Amino acid sequence: MRKPFVAGNWKMNMTVEQARALVADMLPGLQAVSSVERVICPPFTALMAVSAMLAGTDIKLGAQNLHAKASGAYTGEVSPAMVKEFCSYVIIGHSERRRDFGETDEIVNAKVKAAFGVGLMPIVCVGETLEENESGRTTEVVTRQVKQGLKDLSPELAPALVIAYEPVWAIGTGRASTAEAANQVIAETIRKPLAEMFGKDVAEAVRILYGGSANAANAAEFFGMPEIDGALVGGASLKAADFAKIVAAD
Ligand code: G3P
Repeated sequence: MRKPFVAGNWKMNMTVEQARALVADMLPGLQAVSSVERVICPPFTALMAVSAMLAGTDIKLGAQNLHAKASGAYTGEVSPAMVKEFCSYVIIGHSERRRDFGETDEIVNAKVKAAFGVGLMPIVCVGETLEENESGRTTEVVTRQVKQGLKDLSPELAPALVIAYEPVWAIGTGRASTAEAANQVIAETIRKPLAEMFGKDVAEAVRILYGGSANAANAAEFFGMPEIDGALVGGASLKAADFAKIVAAD
């Protein structure tokens, strides 16, 4: 039985003071639902402050990215060890980074290995663009992202993976996929290649999330699907009450 999992991706939002206020608002609601793995992913600048607020709770902290290298002349970047100082999880390969920073499946693969290398658990994002969806390439694209992004990963590490299926055309649009369609894509293009790569037991152990306009009103429908273990939430994670409702729905 996979433990349900909900993560809030705050993206480029919240100063430290705003982060402190938001976490103070959402803590009571989040702490009430210990049956769900709850993860908050603030911007790097708020990690230390939020980490201090989460100390003593079972709510986990995640970063939104990391560099694959351990250290060096990479201006503006944050290393795996620096992220590990505060976090248990790290989002890797978000479509906005693939879009804006040219993150390829190969870069994602290097980051996944670097995250595991310091004991971080990756939340690996995959998903097709509107153009790929409309041209019938969803299966081809998402399967490739999974196979290339997780290439040569050791089977012992794979069960700790979390994968988020985020159809790009549903992110930030208010136009979520349907639960049935997302479930089908996840079964076909994520769970199936995982079984081919790591075996059926590992594939069954990996948590797979839906992301893309998930909210308090639609969350339960997604969570009711056999292949969907939770959500990676953007906009709705910036509202304490909404995020707590999504967690409670899982
Ligand atoms: O990583 C989650 C994010 O991409 C989804 O954003 O605002 O559509 O929930 P949103």
